[in-house]
Amino acid sequence: KVVAVIMVGGPTKGTRFRPLSFNTPKPLFPLAGQPMVHHPISACKRIPNLAQIYLIGFYEEREFALYVSSISNELKLPVRYLKEEKPHGSAGGLYYYRDIIMEDSPSHIFLLNCDVCCSFPLPLMLDAHKRYGGMGTMLVIKVSAESASQFGELVADPTTNELLHYTEKPETFVSDLINCGVYIFTPDIFAAIHDVYINREGRANLRRYSSFEAIQSATRTIPVDFVRLDQDILSPLAGKKQLYTYETMDFWEQIKTPGMSLKCSELYLAQFRYTSPDLLASGDGKKNATIVGNVYIHPSAKVHPSAKIGPNVSISANVRVGAGVRLSGCIILDDVEIMENAVVKNSIIGWKSSLGRWSLVQAEGDYNARLGTTILGEAVTVEDEVVVTSCIVLPNKTLNVGVQEEIIL
Ligand code: GDD
Repeated sequence: KVVAVIMVGGPTKGTRFRPLSFNTPKPLFPLAGQPMVHHPISACKRIPNLAQIYLIGFYEEREFALYVSSISNELKLPVRYLKEEKPHGSAGGLYYYRDIIMEDSPSHIFLLNCDVCCSFPLPLMLDAHKRYGGMGTMLVIKVSAESASQFGELVADPTTNELLHYTEKPETFVSDLINCGVYIFTPDIFAAIHDVYINREGRANLRRYSSFEAIQSATRTIPVDFVRLDQDILSPLAGKKQLYTYETMDFWEQIKTPGMSLKCSELYLAQFRYTSPDLLASGDGKKNATIVGNVYIHPSAKVHPSAKIGPNVSISANVRVGAGVRLSGCIILDDVEIMENAVVKNSIIGWKSSLGRWSLVQAEGDYNARLGTTILGEAVTVEDEVVVTSCIVLPNKTLNVGVQEEIIL
């Protein structure tokens, strides 16, 4: 049997995702019309002999309850949310729930970060992992040398694929091969994490009984029950024939900012062409709106037949789109109203917001730039004919004059 664990983190980690993380936990923010965490969960469906999926995090249990029960029914597979009372780190969280995870006596455990967007080639990783015969195999990808330092950089043996060297977000360039945050382990991972705790205790005792200044300062900063997968496990075990790499040639992105969620929504919409074409809208401008490229429209949304939607648009529940509206490169969240002839480009429109007639909400569409996309928080009102360009607008604001390149608090 195999189990999958998805690390969802908690509220304190979502700060870069503001203002979209005020009311919705980041893992439930919709990308291509599905909660972020839904994409790795659906990828798990393709794992042979999958017994359970666990989400581990420190959000309140009630925030995930509804989603977890509906997805369990849909997949006909138990999905459980396990809440940590406080953050234990990416490996510490896994270890904290080791008894529950091992209940089904799995031979393999997938471990996935929830804030990455990729094709999750899990069955291929499982095959590769069995061939390598180590304790763990991690998904890796080549990125540009300039962007590599935001991630864990690593060196792998070109013939055996063994992980030879690993450094988390190094200051000086090591390699353009990076850690994708998707792993498969044998249950030996728990012993490896246990060893980190034992070493910590040893060092804490050493500190207690030592008067040497050097020993004291070298050991002081380590929190006892916080274990990070990258620094505490991957780095020390590199080059010991226990960890291997599997390189993906598909798409991969990390979702830390609202701008990147637009980019990832686009990537998942494109993937739907191959995996779930029935989720993509079609229309010809007669009975339904004109649809261009990849578009998701929730069945409860009402879109006027004279509107033109796409490419790369996802429209959530109960949205109303008026006559002559033009939408491209955007995410429209639940209960938004867009009135006649408004235009939205490269933007995210927050829950319950309202865009007036002939209004224009737009940005250049540079996903990595701070103001490269326009983000409206919850319940923002843009009045008739107002133009909003490259702005971040916090919840409950009313815009009655044009604004450009501003953060509106
Ligand atoms: N449950 C739980 N508890 N989850 C946690 C905790 C914790 O205490 N700490 C982090 N996580 C989750 C986050 O939500 C995220 O899904 C994942 O664990 C990794 O988060 P971080 O440890 O903050 O690392 P990161 O996202 O900055 O970087 C990691 O992922 C990159 C790929 O996206 C590193 O592993 C990088 O090397 C890697 O490139």
